[in-house]
Amino acid sequence: MTKLADWLRAETSDQDLTGVMISMAAAGAEIAAVLRQAPIAGQTGLAGSDNVQGEAQKALDVISNDIVLNHLRASPAVSILVSEELDEAVDLSSQGRLIVATDPLDGSSNLDVNVTVGTIFSILPSDGGLLQTGQAQLAAGYVAYGPATSLVVRISGATSVFTLDDTGEWVLTVNRAAVPVASGEFAINTARERFWDAATKGYVRESVEGETGAAGKRYNMRWVGSMVADVHRILMRGGIFLYPLDSETISKGGRLRLLYEANPMAWLIEGAGGRSSTGKQGILDVVPTDIHQRVPVILGSAEEVARIEAWYAKS
Ligand code: AHG
Ligand code: MN
Ligand code: MN
Repeated sequence: MTKLADWLRAETSDQDLTGVMISMAAAGAEIAAVLRQAPIAGQTGLAGSDNVQGEAQKALDVISNDIVLNHLRASPAVSILVSEELDEAVDLSSQGRLIVATDPLDGSSNLDVNVTVGTIFSILPSDGGLLQTGQAQLAAGYVAYGPATSLVVRISGATSVFTLDDTGEWVLTVNRAAVPVASGEFAINTARERFWDAATKGYVRESVEGETGAAGKRYNMRWVGSMVADVHRILMRGGIFLYPLDSETISKGGRLRLLYEANPMAWLIEGAGGRSSTGKQGILDVVPTDIHQRVPVILGSAEEVARIEAWYAKS
């Protein structure tokens, strides 16, 4: 059985990167323990505050953010933390070589109903500043708090999956994940159809037509409403996730955030042989202008991403 620390030693000689990965894994294990007890502790409700994006914070959004912040404060390698739950970037160690961007609790609307949520993170070099493209990422990962607690990480090579055991150890369970090139599953919030652009409408219509339409095969639809859960399913068995630009989100640039949702997820999926796109360019090539910037997100099995890109090219 390969443990996280052994895998990290084989994957990189960068002690700072290793230290931050260990800190984020420890934060994930601590958040998992809090989530398991949250309904008993009465923590599943609102915090009574809004974040910078104007979203009502859940108590667990704030608790998870504090857990990540505390673990990274103890890590001298981190210069700055950017978080969905913090209006401004937080200065940590002045000597730190690394920037961390995080969504400490993704999918928090699912907390009340005991459905999978997650923690997403991206690690960038400090000398590139806060507004670097996703291509500059040195590492990324997410923790999925589901029936099992999974940690998905990528440093330089491929994306691998660890599972938290009952002694608190992260054990390698998928060495080098591989997103299937083809898939018959798509994930999109279809209640937003009236806001969609022509490409999204065309792609989904063709999928729903199944073997009777131009795609020539049957599709199934899945939408958890936690990006981490939807992306983890796609990592493990293929599919496509779409949160495209639509007429309602266009003024904000999209729904999901570039630095701590889209970039780490795109980089992890690409590390497993999948693809990612805004529809018009690679997500990892988008140059940020703001730390909380939003972006259209399409990612998953290469053939499906190519199929919607073809719709964008002709529309
Ligand atoms: P967060 O809980 O961090 O604000 O993110 C929620 C995101 C993402 O997890 C999910 O894919 C999407 O919002 C769901 O959006 P809809 O409510 O439109 O389905
Ligand atoms: Mn999120
Ligand atoms: Mn969140």
